[in-house]
Amino acid sequence: PDHRPLYGRHVLVTAGPTHEPIDPVRYIANRSSGKQGFAIAAAAAEAGARVTLVAGPVALETPHGVDRIDVESAREMAEAVDGALPADVAIMVAAVADWRTRDVAGQKMKKARSGLPELVLAENPDILAGLAAGEARPGLLIGFAAETENVVDNAKAKRERKDADWIVANDVSGERQDSVMGGDHNLAHIVTAAGVETLDRMPKTELARALMARVAQHLEPDDSE
Ligand code: C5P
Repeated sequence: PDHRPLYGRHVLVTAGPTHEPIDPVRYIANRSSGKQGFAIAAAAAEAGARVTLVAGPVALETPHGVDRIDVESAREMAEAVDGALPADVAIMVAAVADWRTRDVAGQKMKKARSGLPELVLAENPDILAGLAAGEARPGLLIGFAAETENVVDNAKAKRERKDADWIVANDVSGERQDSVMGGDHNLAHIVTAAGVETLDRMPKTELARALMARVAQHLEPDDSE
């Protein structure tokens, strides 16, 4: 038998940015690299889970043993997440765009002498909050939060507002900004109903393993071996 701690579990992970189209060649995006989410998917697979990774546009290889679904926009991501349910654990690491353009031009927009084009925005669905409120709510629902100030307090508020079980808060302030967004290291606080655990700054791959160890422990609290 497979004794790995997450054997038999389905873990759903989102990662990367989303691209919100403006016209056939232009989009709105953000600086998320997808590294932390991919590391978490890899760590979950290592721990024996069946893993579905819903990935925005990133230049990363699929981790071994992971089922990957590529998407572009937030709405596509929401649909792929929905289609991947049910899941025992969902970890929403993606930096989902808050807004999309309300209308997508069918043809490449042209420079006009008559003035500038105006982009009208519309709000994207909140995938994490939607999962929390949905009928197939995963047993353990984990969000990520990138914060530049009041990191822990904002994460606590976010945990309650979105009805997530845990929020992993990343400090992306000041000089850390370079290293966290796009870099290979992370500094995280894990905010749960029980309290806050602050981890050392460590490689994203290690943070992923540390998080999966806590997930496994949470799912089987009596399994002390
Ligand atoms: O509100 P904020 O974007 O900081 O929340 C971060 C958490 O919510 C992350 O886990 C992110 O993946 C998730 N989220 C989402 N859908 C959105 C916005 C955020 O799933 N539209």
